[in-house]
Amino acid sequence: MAMTLFQHVRQRHTPELAALITAIADGAATIERRIRTAGLDDILGAAGSENVQGEAQQKLDVLADNTLIEVLKALPSVAAVVSEEDEEPVIFEGRPNAKFIAIFDPLDGSSNIDVNVNVGTIVSIQALKPGVSVREAILQPGTEQIAALYVNYGPSTILVYTAGNGVHAFTLAEGEFLLSSEDMKMPEQGPYYSMNEGNIGESQLVYGKAISRFRDGTLVGGKKYSSRYVGSFIADFHRTLLKGGVFLYPPTKKAPNGKLRLLYEANPLSFIAEQAGGAASNGRYRILEIVPTEPHVRTPLIIGSQSEVAAIGGLISISPRE
Ligand code: AHG
Ligand code: MN
Ligand code: MN
Repeated sequence: MAMTLFQHVRQRHTPELAALITAIADGAATIERRIRTAGLDDILGAAGSENVQGEAQQKLDVLADNTLIEVLKALPSVAAVVSEEDEEPVIFEGRPNAKFIAIFDPLDGSSNIDVNVNVGTIVSIQALKPGVSVREAILQPGTEQIAALYVNYGPSTILVYTAGNGVHAFTLAEGEFLLSSEDMKMPEQGPYYSMNEGNIGESQLVYGKAISRFRDGTLVGGKKYSSRYVGSFIADFHRTLLKGGVFLYPPTKKAPNGKLRLLYEANPLSFIAEQAGGAASNGRYRILEIVPTEPHVRTPLIIGSQSEVAAIGGLISISPRE
């Protein structure tokens, strides 16, 4: 039988980190089971509440959030969790030896739940070092992450993680995540750009220029690009990890700091991108070096193969600030 996720992490890291990543994977397997038959269990559609982002919560957002909080609360090594779905961090009191903070987007791609398109779970793990408060530990830059993972609930359910020693993928089979790809590398350059082109008129002109130059092949390596956009970040990123290219969510009038959240979308997937030989920036700076001001802060995001991320960054650096 292929290596299990626990065996893989335990061979390289501490028992507590292996137990933490495995517990998150168990939570993801529970979420996956609910997604598989969502249409039969009246858990599709809106929950009738709003989250801190001012977005209507889907029933599955709330279910996934509760599932992850439960599995993490059961681990004494976890001091607190931060979730897209909860305004304030959930602090587990009376844990003097706790080592980790788990920061997550329990269900990414909520707009795709009801139409049976891939959705995911994204988790960033930060360390709680002695003498540092939980709040300070939450607001560390992405360079400090201990580990990052996402689960892509699709035709296969695939968990991809890094703990600083490469990117590895596991496929869910009978409730167990089994090793399916080891030490994954993102192609240097890819065939795709991925952006919600409905926002082109809303973003700075430089992004429209970048897209038109992807289309006519004058931006990177003389190749004409194809467009792919799923609308679930984990699905657009997973394709970019495997095939190369670039995903971008620039600032828009509606989201002047970008739509994606730094702590539980951009940071974990930027850590994975860099570990696979890719790159991630906000247009001017490396995502992982941004120091967060608050847990739900948003960021513009350009993430993918080195060539494309650099090319867009280069265009921005010579473009007048609008
Ligand atoms: P979430 O469902 O966790 O709120 O995330 C949705 C995000 C991300 O998954 C995706 O890339 C982006 O929203 C799509 O935004 P648009 O619909 O504006 O393109
Ligand atoms: Mn999301
Ligand atoms: Mn979400």
